[in-house]
Amino acid sequence: MELPLQLRLTVERHVQGMDQAKLKRDFRALSERYRTGGGRGRKLLTEDAEAASYAIARMPATYGAVVTALKHALERTPVRPATLLDCGAGTGAASWAACTLLDLGAVTCLEREPAMIRLGRSLAAEAPPPLRDAVWLRRDLAKDEIPERADLVIASYVLNEMSEPERDRAVVKLWNAAERMLLIVEPGTPAAWRDLMALRDRLLALGARIAAPCPHESACPMGEGDWCHFRCRIPRSRLHKRLKDGDAPYEDEKFSYLAVTREPAVRAEARIIRHPRTDKGRISLELCARDGLRRLEAHKKDGERYKRARKADWGDAFALPEVVTGEDGP
Ligand SMILES: C[S@@+](CC[C@H](N)C(=O)[O-])C[C@H]1O[C@@H](n2cnc3c(N)ncnc32)[C@H](O)[C@@H]1O
Repeated sequence: MELPLQLRLTVERHVQGMDQAKLKRDFRALSERYRTGGGRGRKLLTEDAEAASYAIARMPATYGAVVTALKHALERTPVRPATLLDCGAGTGAASWAACTLLDLGAVTCLEREPAMIRLGRSLAAEAPPPLRDAVWLRRDLAKDEIPERADLVIASYVLNEMSEPERDRAVVKLWNAAERMLLIVEPGTPAAWRDLMALRDRLLALGARIAAPCPHESACPMGEGDWCHFRCRIPRSRLHKRLKDGDAPYEDEKFSYLAVTREPAVRAEARIIRHPRTDKGRISLELCARDGLRRLEAHKKDGERYKRARKADWGDAFALPEVVTGEDGP
């Protein structure tokens, strides 16, 4: 999952000539603030240089997470949104991600911090429409009303920055703004996932229908100490390696998400909730199914079932075999 070339080059051009040591220091300080200061409604990122280090270090990962989550959500519904409201847009990663998958006619970005708005707008200035023509509005999702409406509303890596009462109020506004679909993407941590599950209850109570990742609308069956999260793999640019210190050719971004729609979706029979395990001609899949968590094992001799399991990846929807053998866990 790679950042669009044009976006990567624009980010690189933007930081050319900037003090690289300062960018690195800013990123470290920013990471520390995110590690310790999230979830309390504090401002974590306000300066232009911080916005630039965010764009280099985090935008590829959040872009990848939104593309992956939105792709899985769109697989479950015939809805093809034509307008987007990107809430807590930051430097615009979710808007770029949505434009990768959808033929959008209009994009509106709501963001509280002027430094992020300046950079997000400038990164999109040479992009094709609708990114180039996106409307950027300064808005505090916790305090302000959201009068805008769009087919698709995305809140990516933003709700976890708010305090619980702020998040609770904000999600109602986001849902009211969503004419067809609301997609929430959050870091793949136990804490962010727990908060997301509270939002799931809230949205179900408001009449929202789950499209993905859950194959059902019952209580989440994840056991104590476990949490539902997914992964996308992002190739790292030279600049990214320099800023984050490290030579690995890619980074793995863990994320959790919830996509809800106004119309009932065609939910998956089951979803793969771990990295598939392969061992001597046997594949083991951990699944969340309509009746709870299950393990499905496929052996080479199982033919079609094995072939399907071999192609499947963490996060994919999976149609259960009609006959479930005794090897499958409860
Ligand atoms: C971690 S960044 C995520 C940015 C972008 N959505 C992405 O996925 O890369 C969080 C963004 O949410 C913004 N934000 C946080 N709280 C906000 C609020 N109450 N209203 C509007 N924006 C907010 C921050 O300024 C920041 O730009």
